[in-house]
Amino acid sequence: MQAVVLVGGFGTRLRPLTNTRPKQMLPIVNRPMVEHVVGHLVRHGVSRVVLALGYRPDAFVDAYPDGRCGGVPLHYAVEPEPLDTAGAIRFAARDAGVEGRFVVVNGDVLTDLDLGRVLALHDERGAEATITLHRVTDPSRYGVVPTDTTGRVEAFVEKPPPGEAPTDLINAGTYVLEPSVLDRIAGGRRVSIEREVFPAMVADHTLYAIDGETYWIDTGTPAEYVQAQVDLLDGTRGCALTGVHRTADVDPRADVELSAVGAGVVVGPGARVTRSVLLPGATIGAGAVVDGSIVGEGADVARGAHLSEHCVVGDGGVVPRDARLAGARVERAPEGVRGG
Ligand code: GDD
Ligand code: MG
Repeated sequence: MQAVVLVGGFGTRLRPLTNTRPKQMLPIVNRPMVEHVVGHLVRHGVSRVVLALGYRPDAFVDAYPDGRCGGVPLHYAVEPEPLDTAGAIRFAARDAGVEGRFVVVNGDVLTDLDLGRVLALHDERGAEATITLHRVTDPSRYGVVPTDTTGRVEAFVEKPPPGEAPTDLINAGTYVLEPSVLDRIAGGRRVSIEREVFPAMVADHTLYAIDGETYWIDTGTPAEYVQAQVDLLDGTRGCALTGVHRTADVDPRADVELSAVGAGVVVGPGARVTRSVLLPGATIGAGAVVDGSIVGEGADVARGAHLSEHCVVGDGGVVPRDARLAGARVERAPEGVRGG
């Protein structure tokens, strides 16, 4: 079984962290996101992974120079220009010579989906494509997918206005596709699978769906990028992981709770870090508070500063002494400026 993993987006909602790396190379509890995604696929029988690359492809090639990840071979398919989701799938599948039915996943989704169950139902129904679903409270940020009692998809509505979604079941971003789906995708231009290909298949009655009924999260926003890690640290998802890297230097008088703390991070005395993500080499000064926020590589949160409500501090960013920020985005400071 082969899988195409979509990892070519710009990750705009996670800027400035994604100014320097693709979203899927950001760590999830100290391991690149793509390794979590590939690891899950491999556990469910995928034996070759095709990375559909666009934005900053070198980050993946540099991280896996021997062309292997999670114990399986990788194929790097680099789009000449962003082709959108369907364009990327067609380009990658053709580039890698994929044959037979195959799996596609959005590379920013973490899930415990039972892929074998999806494949079995896909075959049983004779579907041309099967999409997996997840129930959410606010469907407006996702593709909304009403089905009939046999599981046939009745409509595919990408990001409907709030309050207008016909169901709370949304596209969870894992698909099983027959090769004929590739023939539906025009070459050489941007094509969205959500807005163009799936609606055409609905009209032809060949698109089916199945509720995954398991853990699922799209990590594409600061709040969800943090939540995905809290879920691994508090035992919501499997056995609780240890979040503090062995090379991090956390002062015994600091308080670090439900947070992922990367290599070489320094947390000063009296600092309090809760439900947050500190990338390698970040520094948290004495008495600073970091709550529900993300601090980039080598960034400096100076003593007494206070971050909350999904602040994102970019790599090398500086939060000055005693600053109070809520929901802010902090870019890298100009050369020569350091926190106090
Ligand atoms: N190669 C390539 N080229 N990859 C792309 C491109 C492109 O032009 N555009 C986006 N991607 C990748 C992203 O990197 C990401 O892994 C995946 O495709 C989905 O893009 P997002 O930008 O994260 O989409 P979304 O979260 O707004 O919506 C999608 O996911 C939801 C579930 O998480 C849609 O598929 C929704 O229908 C779905 O509900
Ligand atoms: Mg997404």
